[in-house]
Amino acid sequence: MYLILGLYGRDAQLKVLMETFRATQLSGTSGVCCVTGSAGAGKTYLVRHAMEQMKQEGAIITSAKLEQYNEHIPYTAIASFV
Ligand SMILES: Nc1ncnc2c1ncn2[C@@H]1O[C@H](COP(=O)(O)OP(=O)(O)O)[C@@H](O)[C@H]1O
Ligand SMILES: [Mg+2]
Repeated sequence: MYLILGLYGRDAQLKVLMETFRATQLSGTSGVCCVTGSAGAGKTYLVRHAMEQMKQEGAIITSAKLEQYNEHIPYTAIASFV
């Protein structure tokens, strides 16, 4: 479980994620957003916040995680996904 409280100072970044999502909804195509930043900068928090908002707008979301320190173990991303 991931507790989402207030998201501060990320209006511009949230707007990009939501506009990209809405554009894919309208066009039926896909989109990619890359969120970069140092550890603890708030990447996961921002994306989780955006995902909650997308769900409220009808998105069905699933996610998987690529583990930097598990790259020697095959299929970890797929295993985290199922
Ligand atoms: N924009 C924000 N507003 C409020 N709290 C934030 C914000 N960004 C990050 N945090 C806090 O910092 C913590 C660490 O952020 P996190 O998203 O896990 O960093 P990253 O994924 O970049 O390593 C979050 O759990 C949250 O408590
Ligand atoms: Mg993170």
